[in-house]
Amino acid sequence: MTVREKLGQVQQLAWTGETGPGGGQTARAEAAARAGLLGSVLNIHGARHSNDLQRIAVEESRLGIPLLFGLDVIHGFWTAFPIPLAQASSFDPSVARRDAEVSAREARSNGVHWTFSPMVDVSHEPRWGRIAEGCGEDPYLTAAFAAAKVRGYQGAPDGGELQRGDRIAACAKHFVAYGGAEGGRDYNTVDVSEQRLRNLYLPPFKAAADAGVATFMASFNTVGGVPAHGNTHTMNEILKGEWGFEGFVVSDYTGVEELIAHGFAADGADAGGLALTAGLDMEMVSTNVADHGEALLADGRLTMERLDDAVARILRLKFALGLFDAPYTDESAAIAGPTAPARATARETAGRSMVLLRNEDSLLPLSPSVASIAVVGPFADSTALHGTWAGPGAHRFPSVSILDGVREAAPGAEVRHAGQIPAEAAAAARTSDVAVVVVGEDPELSGEAAVRSDIGLPPGQEELIAAVAATGTPFVVVLVNGRPLVLGDWLESAAAVLEAWHPGLEAGHAVADVLFGAVDPGGRLPVTFPRAVGQIPVYYNHENTGRPYDPTRPDERFVSKYLDLEHGPRFPFGHGLGYTTFTVSEPELSRDTVARDTLERGETVNVRVTVTNTGARTGDEVVQLYVHDVTASITQPVRRLRGFERVTLEPGASTTVTFRLGTEDLGFWTNDPAGTFVLERGRIDLYTGKSSMTRTYRTLTIV
Ligand code: GLC
Repeated sequence: MTVREKLGQVQQLAWTGETGPGGGQTARAEAAARAGLLGSVLNIHGARHSNDLQRIAVEESRLGIPLLFGLDVIHGFWTAFPIPLAQASSFDPSVARRDAEVSAREARSNGVHWTFSPMVDVSHEPRWGRIAEGCGEDPYLTAAFAAAKVRGYQGAPDGGELQRGDRIAACAKHFVAYGGAEGGRDYNTVDVSEQRLRNLYLPPFKAAADAGVATFMASFNTVGGVPAHGNTHTMNEILKGEWGFEGFVVSDYTGVEELIAHGFAADGADAGGLALTAGLDMEMVSTNVADHGEALLADGRLTMERLDDAVARILRLKFALGLFDAPYTDESAAIAGPTAPARATARETAGRSMVLLRNEDSLLPLSPSVASIAVVGPFADSTALHGTWAGPGAHRFPSVSILDGVREAAPGAEVRHAGQIPAEAAAAARTSDVAVVVVGEDPELSGEAAVRSDIGLPPGQEELIAAVAATGTPFVVVLVNGRPLVLGDWLESAAAVLEAWHPGLEAGHAVADVLFGAVDPGGRLPVTFPRAVGQIPVYYNHENTGRPYDPTRPDERFVSKYLDLEHGPRFPFGHGLGYTTFTVSEPELSRDTVARDTLERGETVNVRVTVTNTGARTGDEVVQLYVHDVTASITQPVRRLRGFERVTLEPGASTTVTFRLGTEDLGFWTNDPAGTFVLERGRIDLYTGKSSMTRTYRTLTIV
């Protein structure tokens, strides 16, 4: 390969500009492909369309190196699954795997080789629109979903299935700590300690790497003052050094160019040299490495060894995908839209991803024989409930509306519909046995560059709820949203509140399945709901502080609390109700004391919990296990999720869940930049229960 051909492999151009600033680069992409000076193209799909471009690269360039086609297939290609934050609510990683398997099959058959997914950014920031794309505030839950999604897209961790027509390469993003942006403002500064970087933000990326993820994507933010796109500590030392990652790192859109705006690079040449030297391997959209690479090599700001390594990483993925042997997509096999099985999977996973926040007087489940029901609100008849980053399907296949879902579930009922006019909604509710009020966020308020400084219900929606409440008709509020919301005083007036998130293609069917009891709401919150925006950040895995609030002494002044706000979240991490009741026993430990070196030899402490369905309906419970290292050289969160299992039980049935805790569950990373993980002697409380608020624990002593 010539130097210019090598520099070309490092370049990715955008066919359309729909996912970032600036327009598409279609003409430049075609010319570069023909000259053999292009490695990859994003935002292109369609078997014929992509084959046309691929043919230029393979048959008209000197070396015929095939192009890699990437697309954001985040929670669906044709079949839009629930947003990832909803999927995380299922506490069932198979939900993510099934999304990825369907998405990979649909995308690959339409010419896509590589998805920029899973997004595994942990975040404590509900103002941040991209919290919708991740799995919430906990690293352990996010790590489980990261691994599941990678396996769903790629298959076996060794990449041996990537050449199959139903697999695509995955991309763990955004590396790293993007979810920690100050103020939740997208692209903003992130300044975290090494221990918080390693204990909170890195674990899901390590899980993705361990699952064999083919690529990583750098994040737009700085990490400790160094932009992630030029951060040798995160890319070279941790990802490629400590973890031995052999795939490649792609920039996020114009992230290389943005090193200049960050004040980290002097100009484009500087940006390209700094990024590649720090461990980036492919530049998306901006073209600094391609434009200045020869000069950078000449003046030593880029070594040929580094360039060769980047090119080799990229070519290895193209070989693994089988692109050199079969560069073209079989146009006759292209999947044209959501199949019935895909829709069924989308419906089932959406039903598992909903969280019943409140259900006074057991208003839910509704009876399918209800005589009259009002379905009102701005999103009652919406067919655009796919959510942010919903893929090409969102533009072609409307979601099932909640109004239609209710009509199908209660065929004998008189269903009255009204939109967002309070008086009309009240009129519909007044003469009905029950009302379903559908409020929340337009998907445009969710996702990238969609940060809200006020995360209450959008204007007019609380008035609509009040108008319905004033009629005296019992009502359930269905929330369709992409972030935790501040739920106002209306909450007490709603007998039931169902968090449906943005449920995807099968929204209406899945919501009706839960409302009428065909599906038991077994989802739990993967993220805290604050009482007020001024309370942010508020999250469950927090440190205790030296002056923690004591609920038994609410008037104590000199403690960590607000003068003007009730302490604690509106709804905590792990919260969720169902249509039956469960008991969760105290944890039984296989041993109360364990020697540290026993654990370090790989042995575990087993925690057994018995769950019983004490109600009259079959239902789901999510048993949760939290760890609290009470005294440590680095203050530990009051709770750290280290086990969860969703169980389905018949009335009266019981089951025992066993969690196995090892060093990785009981230890933590220190502030050593070289990466030191420690397991310290002393008391560790092991909590089990139905949410992060559980107070049931047994003590394990490490000696
Ligand atoms: C966007 C997003 C990233 C996405 C990329 C390509 O800026 O930050 O998540 O994968 O561009 O569309």
